[in-house]
This record gives sequence, structure tokens and C-alpha cells, in this order.
Amino acid sequence: MALYAIGDLHLSFNSNKSMEVFGDGWFDYVNRIKLGFESLESTDITVLCGDISWGMSLDESIKDFKFIDALPGEKIILKGNHDYWWNTISKMNAFFEENKIKSIKILNNNCYYYNEVAICGTRGWMCEDDFSSEENIKIATRENMRLRSSLEAAKNAETKICFLHYPPITKGKDYCNLIPLMNEYDVKVCVYAHLHNYGHKSAVLGIIDGINYELVSSDFINFTPQKIMD
Ligand SMILES: [Fe+2]
Ligand SMILES: [Fe+2]
Repeated sequence: MALYAIGDLHLSFNSNKSMEVFGDGWFDYVNRIKLGFESLESTDITVLCGDISWGMSLDESIKDFKFIDALPGEKIILKGNHDYWWNTISKMNAFFEENKIKSIKILNNNCYYYNEVAICGTRGWMCEDDFSSEENIKIATRENMRLRSSLEAAKNAETKICFLHYPPITKGKDYCNLIPLMNEYDVKVCVYAHLHNYGHKSAVLGIIDGINYELVSSDFINFTPQKIMD
């Protein structure tokens, strides 16, 4: 039994938006994801850190969810910036139930547990140099509230791991998202995704001010879920 994470599966079975157009790094990525999951067991948990499916609706994403459901273990999903199919929790859960999708759970204002460790998270928002725009402030504030709800749900857990789609910090940018909140709740590990191709260069990795940052976007980890904890 182990806890894994991978972001940015960018599946496109029904939506004809293969990531292979973004270069050799994405060649045959769907098969590589399948292979990457092969060593996982039914008792493992994988957090899918957003940008899951290109579908524009739940119905358009059905084949992508069936593909995910067939991968070994339980999956906990959070929203990425391209998950246009995302809906209310009740609609998503009803859709999964109707379609007999049993291994996918939604992380949104809540938390899950891996043994004693709390799995918390939200989508997050871009690290902007210029954070004066009202729209940016509004979105960042909302994401802050979502992460607070998730961390608050886990307040009794001694260890909390924070899973995000957007990096809360990137190289060369002064602005950071959500880090004060992670500090407030004593989060020591933050796992994020979203950065692709040349974007990998701006990834902040390792321990900075007490938080260990890990990037798990699929093309950064060779489409193989990254083990976060045994
Ligand atoms: Fe992505
Ligand atoms: Fe993204």
C-alpha cells in the first residue's frame, strides 16, 4: 500500500486534443500512463493533480474516466485549469455512480486519509507578478478559502500533505500563493503539477522554508505516478 501522485493526464479519448502535438516528450503518452500505473496495486491511492480530461462535459469525458477507473488502485481527483467538465460535487458523484465508476473520489473543500496522513488540496492559482487585478485577487481568495476548508477538515491530523494543480511558487517570481496558509496548518509537503515542457525549468523543488515541494506533472515524471509515501 502506498500513496502516489501524478498530474496532467490530459486524456482526450472523445475530444481529439492529443498532447502529442506538444512534441516528442508527449509521444504515446496515454500508453505510457497505462504502463506507468502497471506496478500499482489495488490498495494504492493516487492523487490526480488536475488537468485530467480535455472533455468539455462529463459526458464527453466518459471514456477518459473509464480509462482512469480501469487503472489500479483508488484515485483522488482535484481540478486543473483545463478541466472544463468539472461540475458540482453531487453531479459528478451521481455521474460516476450512474456509469459504475467506482475508484474515483473528489477532493474539493474536504480531505481524505492515507493511514494517519491527511490528503488536502485545491486547484490553486497562477503566481502572478502583478497581482493587482481584481479578477486575480478574487480567484486567489476563493482558492485560499477552498484550501482552508480542506485543511480545516483535516485539523486533527498530525500530518497533512497539500496537493495542488498550480505551483504555489515558481522560480523568478516574487508572488506566492497559499504558502502562508500551508504554514498556518503546518504542512510540510506540497505536491503540484501544471508545468509542462519548458515550464519545468521554472519548477521549485525540494525544501524551501520548511515545505518540501514536488512536481508531478505527467511529462516531468515520465508518465509514471510518483510515490509520495509508503
Ligand atoms: Fe496541464
Ligand atoms: Fe494546468
